[in-house]
Order: sequence, then C-alpha cells, then structure tokens
Amino acid sequence: MKNIQDAALTLLLRQPIETHILPAHLYRSDSLAQEIEKACVPKNDLSRTDILNILVKYFYAYIYPDSMDSSINLKDISVCFNQFIHRRLGTPLLWDKIDLRRSLLKYGFSLAMLADLPKSAHIFHEIALSKIDPDKFKGFFLGIDIGAGTGILMLAQMVAARKNEFDKIKITGIERDKPTFERTRLIADKLNLGTMLLGDAKKRLTYSFLSNDSVTFISNETLPGVSARLWKEDFIVINKMLFDSYETLLRLTHFFPNQVYARDKSTERVIILNRDNNFYNTNQYPLRLMYPYAIELDNAACPLTEIGWEYAALLQDPWPDILSHRW
Ligand SMILES: C[S@@+](CC[C@H](N)C(=O)[O-])C[C@H]1O[C@@H](n2cnc3c(N)ncnc32)[C@H](O)[C@@H]1O
Repeated sequence: MKNIQDAALTLLLRQPIETHILPAHLYRSDSLAQEIEKACVPKNDLSRTDILNILVKYFYAYIYPDSMDSSINLKDISVCFNQFIHRRLGTPLLWDKIDLRRSLLKYGFSLAMLADLPKSAHIFHEIALSKIDPDKFKGFFLGIDIGAGTGILMLAQMVAARKNEFDKIKITGIERDKPTFERTRLIADKLNLGTMLLGDAKKRLTYSFLSNDSVTFISNETLPGVSARLWKEDFIVINKMLFDSYETLLRLTHFFPNQVYARDKSTERVIILNRDNNFYNTNQYPLRLMYPYAIELDNAACPLTEIGWEYAALLQDPWPDILSHRW
C-alpha cells in the first residue's frame, strides 16, 4: 500500500529545472565569507557578477548556515534554488527530505525576497555602493534595517560602511517574524553583520537602542507591490513614527529607498515621498490609498517592475521567469 501511495504522490512532483542558475563562467568557487571580504575592500570594484555570487551563496548559507566558509559548487546551489521554488508542490529533489522542506516553508517569505535575484542584486548594488562621508558621523556607522527578513540589506549596509572606511559599525536589523528573526540572528552573528532585534518597527519602543548618535543609514523595504495600496504594508506608518520621535537623529541619514513614487490610479496623480516630506507628510489625496510604482535607483525613477533587468539577463533561462518576485 505504501508503495502505491508513494507512486501516486510522485506523479504530482514538479521536475527540477535542468540549467544551473548562473552560467558556469560567471560562478566562482570562493566561499561566501571570501566573497564578502573582497566586496568590502574599498578599492575593489563590486561588479554585477560579484553581487550575484554573493547573493546565491548567501541564499545557500541561509539554508545551510555552516557552509559560509566552504566552497560550494554551482550544481549544489542550483539544486537548492530548485528545492526552494518547488517547496510547496514538491519535487524529486525534496523526496524524503522532510526537515529541509519544513525549513524552506518556514523561511519561505523572506527567502522569496532574496530569491528575486535581479531585484535583490540591484538594491544591493544601490546600498553597498552608497557614498557616505564618515566625518559627518564622527566615523561611526549606525545603520538600521527595518523589516530585515534574511538580513541581506544588513550585509549591503555593512559593505557600504566598510567601503566608506568607517571606524566603528553598528547595524541593527528589526524583524517581527520570530522564526525569521531567529535564523537571521544566527546568520548575522556568524557573518558579523550586526544585531537582530525581534519587534514591531511601527512602535517607538523598538528603537530604544538609539541614544544620541546620528543614524547613518536606514533601509526600509516594507513597501507593497504595484497592485496593492500603500496601507497594505507599514512603510508610511513606520516613517511617521520614526520622524515624529527621532527627527534630530535623522538629519544626515541616508535612506533606501530615498524616493518612492506613489500614484493614484484613477487620476494618474503622482506623489514623491522623500526626506523633504519625511516619507509620509503630504497634504494630498489620502496617501494610504495610493499605489507604489517606482523608487529611485541610480539617481533616476525606476518602476518597481523593471528593477534588476540587467541582472536578469545574466541568469540562465528559464530562471528569471521562475524565481519569486519582490514586487
Ligand atoms: C519585503 S520583506 C524585505 C526583507 C528584506 N529587507 C529584504 O530586502 O530581503 C519585509 C520584511 O519586513 C518584515 N516586516 C514587515 N513589517 C514589519 C514591521 N512592522 N516590523 C518588523 N518587521 C516587519 C516582514 O516580516 C518581512 O520579513
């Protein structure tokens, strides 16, 4: 009976994608830890290939935290992405791997953000290559990653801090989902990314770790997708609380995103949210009813749906169409 049951279940399984996620000539055998060290050296470039190597190895390390110092081959990374995208419907690659499948489901939401490799890479590039003057912050990089998920933007902030040669770095990631918080704390500890904090980023109390130091960088990717109104996520509520409570610490802060374009679909009216209006303070049509449609990247408005297209072109087909989408 068991064999008949198993045979029936295998009929439902999805076949893995046969191509590797990256072409072999773009993939390097260096470990994640080595990739990060290279990225942090101020004089080193950070090319698209460098960023994709970091992201796919970070993804693997999130699932296998002991792998950070090891050289992982491209086949194993591709198997891991295959297992992730088929975590719900199943695949022969997950057969009998119940614990792994549970982990992929448990961390599914935050891993899905990271697994949008084109968009994650473009955002990573924007943050990691920010030009920030350490003298304005007395050499102290104080970063906050709001809605940290896997912690990938904490890593991007860490690269920015080290590339800009800050003397002291303190990055705090805030996450409200407990399983994600616990796993990201483990990863952040191992990679020295900073401190994870379990809490609601809308609440003032969550920021009680702040004292009198200026905040250097805030990443806050709590934006809904283009088809959802702004109230669906906490972006404007978080900004209102932050600027109402801590405005003096935010005068010099660099933000990601530093501009959000929201629109009213019926009139096509557009509102730009940025630090001039504290990312929420507009007197227009109720902001919470508007839809986000672009953020500023590379000093220009980039529609959310088009973020990362240059990175998508570097992945092997059919992966760009199959990976999850942030927005
Ligand atoms: C869109 S994901 C982004 C994750 C990560 N920053 C990245 O770029 O991959 C948003 C994350 O923020 C968390 N989040 C959303 N609202 C939050 C809130 N009010 N307080 C704390 N975490 C929040 C969610 O649990 C989720 O992990």
